[in-house]
Amino acid sequence: MYNDYSSFLQELRDKSNIVDVAQKYVDLEKKGGRYWARCPIHNEKTPSFTVDELRGTYYCFGCHASGDVFSFIQQVEHVDFKEAVQILANRAGLEVPKFSSNFNQEKKEAERLKKERLYQLMRETGLFYHNNLVAQKTGEVVEYLNLRKLTKSTIKTFGMGYSSGYSELIEYLRAKGFSDDEMIESGVAKEKNGKLYDFEAGRLIVPIFNNLNNVVAFGGRALGSVDFMKYKNTEETLIFKKRNELFGVHTLKKAKLTENFNCVIVVEGYMDVISLYQAGVKNVVASMGTALTIEQAKMLKYYNNNIYLCYDGDNAGQKATYKGIDILRDAGLNVKVVRLIEGLDPDDIIKQYGVSKFRELVEQAISPTEYKIRTVAKQFDLTTPEGQGKFAVKALEVLTELATMVEREAYLPMISELSRLSATSLAKQLDKFEDNINGYKETQAVENVKEQRFTLKPSTNKYYKAARFLIYSIFAYDALDYINEDISPYLKDKEHIAIYDYARELKTNNTTLNINMLKELESNGEAKHIYEGNFDKIPNDCKEQMLNDCFNTLKIDFLDIEMQELTSQYSEESNIDKQNLLRNQIAEINSRIVELKRRKNGK
Ligand code: UTP
Ligand code: MN
Repeated sequence: MYNDYSSFLQELRDKSNIVDVAQKYVDLEKKGGRYWARCPIHNEKTPSFTVDELRGTYYCFGCHASGDVFSFIQQVEHVDFKEAVQILANRAGLEVPKFSSNFNQEKKEAERLKKERLYQLMRETGLFYHNNLVAQKTGEVVEYLNLRKLTKSTIKTFGMGYSSGYSELIEYLRAKGFSDDEMIESGVAKEKNGKLYDFEAGRLIVPIFNNLNNVVAFGGRALGSVDFMKYKNTEETLIFKKRNELFGVHTLKKAKLTENFNCVIVVEGYMDVISLYQAGVKNVVASMGTALTIEQAKMLKYYNNNIYLCYDGDNAGQKATYKGIDILRDAGLNVKVVRLIEGLDPDDIIKQYGVSKFRELVEQAISPTEYKIRTVAKQFDLTTPEGQGKFAVKALEVLTELATMVEREAYLPMISELSRLSATSLAKQLDKFEDNINGYKETQAVENVKEQRFTLKPSTNKYYKAARFLIYSIFAYDALDYINEDISPYLKDKEHIAIYDYARELKTNNTTLNINMLKELESNGEAKHIYEGNFDKIPNDCKEQMLNDCFNTLKIDFLDIEMQELTSQYSEESNIDKQNLLRNQIAEINSRIVELKRRKNGK
């Protein structure tokens, strides 16, 4: 038996050879020191997914997914760590140990059992509603289904149901052995005058499934058009937190096994997902009326890196789009915005114009920046000089959130066309904004405030500049022959580390490196940035100096981070001895930084 969980994990890791595990999902082919395959995490035509058997890690040059055998399972199965452990344990024939001696573990176990019981109750309830709906041959609900043109197969796929009245479900669940408390706790029943009643009585039922195909809640739609309580949703319970769920993940997960998606579309409503699915658009989920949450963004990341926001064109939809853009970007996702026809939701568009129209709108999705510029444009009268000027100022302000001048300038023709002002005068105005931003940055630095909005993005960051040039040199002039030190400790971008490892691996096979090898990685990230980096323009006699400077920059950056860490530890430390120790370490690091800077400046 295991003394602790970590020794169990160690054994599980030992028994879960990453090549064997990954082989079940992709066709691995050994090339050099690594195995290569088409990435199971994102869709691609040529292999950029690599597995390093010795280290037990994987890395995809296309989507940057990386990690060990546990995170691999998490990513391909869309599950959390614990679930991945369970899957690997089943595979290896190990039992996941339970530590019942520990009070916390006992509490957790009790909660797990309770949740399990609620899942059962929800599953029974869903089945009851569904069978009830299928049994209806005439009447209000059948008419409503016809009106909404929902087919039998759709009803089955989504497990839709119907609640005929207040008491039927209650009796059914009692007969199945569920207690009144459990019914209340799961949210399917409420109590009035000492009597339980079905919370969704009289409604068309849309079950909400979680990531593991458990029913966690229901949305109940009124039959017909109503102004009040169109949907009644299960209130929050032990197993349902609205902010953690996305409607449609169960169908998305299934569809993803057989279809290649280049994006996931996020819509507002249940009916939009259902109607799109029925029309063959299966890469859709709904955020269920509210703006996207961070938790939902994280879940989306499991499925795809490209997210298309497809909210209604009204005020609420616009607000949700703005918020969604920020949340998705912060989660590291690529965002586009689909602009729908004013006043129509995706379901309406399919009904009125057909699914091809919807697909066309998706094709025409625009960048968040363009979306914001077009939204700003709507607020002004662009037929008057006054409106044009005011619009231009606001639109240029939108551009300041872009990282580089090049990106900003790309939008000038569009703003010029909308405002009818010349691109040159817009560019001048943009320069002024730049100065303001730089001024802003300096004052902020003086006040030592951690500012968020204008922090340098990768392309202008010292670390990235230096690391990219170093890696470029390693390929372009085989610079590993001159660099005697291992630079990997100083690399902080995981793609840089992978590329560097890859280069070293090629070198051990006595390959002469060249820049085309980077190109062959089919990356859309750092490798691409590096070979497109225009480093060729650097004069030959400067290159060696620059290489040294870059290496020093990385070291300084590394030490800076360490120093920050120690400084914050120091400020929180109350023990005098430990404080002294930290102070010495800080002084030591500081002198190393000073020395490196001196060398960099050639003194
Ligand atoms: P919509 O009003 O766009 O709903 O609200 P819909 O899905 O298009 O429904 P139909 O086509 O009118 O039947 C979007 C989402 O907001 C939530 C639901 O998740 C809904 O799908 N909502 C809306 C509620 O929870 N309660 C409501 O009363 C209304
Ligand atoms: Mn609708």
